[in-house]
Amino acid sequence: MIVLGIETTCDETAAALVSRTGDACGRILSNIVLSQIAEHAEYGGVVPEIAARAHVEALDRIIATAMAEAKCTYAALDGVAAAAGPGLIGGVIVGLTTAKAIALTHNKPLIAVNHLEAHALTARLTDGTQFPYCLFLASGGHTQILAVRGVGDYVRLGTTVDDAIGEAFDKTAKLLGLGYPGGPLVEKEALRGDAARFGLPRPMSGRHDADFSLSGLKTALRLEAQKIAPLSDQDVADLCASFQQAVVDVVIDRLRGGLRMFRERVGTPNALVCAGGVAANQAIRKVLHRLAAEAGTQLVAPPPALCTDNGAMIAWAGAERLALGLTDPLDVAPRARWPLDEVAKATTKPSAIG
Ligand code: KG4
Ligand code: ZN
Repeated sequence: MIVLGIETTCDETAAALVSRTGDACGRILSNIVLSQIAEHAEYGGVVPEIAARAHVEALDRIIATAMAEAKCTYAALDGVAAAAGPGLIGGVIVGLTTAKAIALTHNKPLIAVNHLEAHALTARLTDGTQFPYCLFLASGGHTQILAVRGVGDYVRLGTTVDDAIGEAFDKTAKLLGLGYPGGPLVEKEALRGDAARFGLPRPMSGRHDADFSLSGLKTALRLEAQKIAPLSDQDVADLCASFQQAVVDVVIDRLRGGLRMFRERVGTPNALVCAGGVAANQAIRKVLHRLAAEAGTQLVAPPPALCTDNGAMIAWAGAERLALGLTDPLDVAPRARWPLDEVAKATTKPSAIG
């Protein structure tokens, strides 16, 4: 089964072809990602209107490249998948409408994929991970801990009540004049900084749930920076190191809570899976390994290019859904908000743990 996947929910214009050869078994035939970072950099974040226009300009070419690289014709496709949300609505409309046009023209089934579901299922494409597993998704737009029990069968164990973790990294970088996207720049500065210099808070730590809150940490950092301004290079490095250490401590505490909730509600996870751009952070990755071992399971960390937004994850999620007969009508609506517990699941096939 070969599926074309289209991703346009944020600032990556992406298309890919994936072949599904069996349960949790697939192959990426092509995976083309065009990042819009340069277009948004001067604004210090993604500008929705600029993103939507850039998707319109680039998408046809990106899809044509993905088809050519996979040496695939439209006639050979089994389905066309697009991220139908959640995300910046202008971009979502561009990708979903394009997918509808291809599906209609070539008489192929359409699969409207939830972007978060695509992140959640990537580990099955890259590592053949079996259900159920615990997902830690941390990107610029999302921070969630999920129990992934089957296709369309997710239990949200924790989320952020304000900023996403990647967003907190980006805002920290902006405050310190480091540029965009902030995560890799803050991580680099942190390497030569003193993480113990500033006593930043660890919001939500010790609570019995698995929710995050990052906005207080960001404010505390700003106050510390204001106290010692103007900042020297070493001050910036020390602030970055102290911030990153606070995030790492929060991730340890919150994810411990999430894994405990997983055990109580679902059982033993087959893996702890990470996804999203923040999972590229080495300090965070190190503690994820530790947490997985503590929970008696393994860490599955897909390669960074498949952790961040891409078309292959959309194509794969489309293939997983298509294999279960889960397709969508051509009038399916794009959604800016789309919580994972509102994703349709197969009624004929019980989830892996019933
Ligand atoms: O998944 P992603 O590429 O796009 C979405 O947000 O959907 O994630 C991008 C986010 C940005 O906020 C970026 O600053 C963050 O991931 N990020 C990192 C690192 N690399 C990317 N955060 C911390 N450390 C990193 N090394
Ligand atoms: Zn994403």
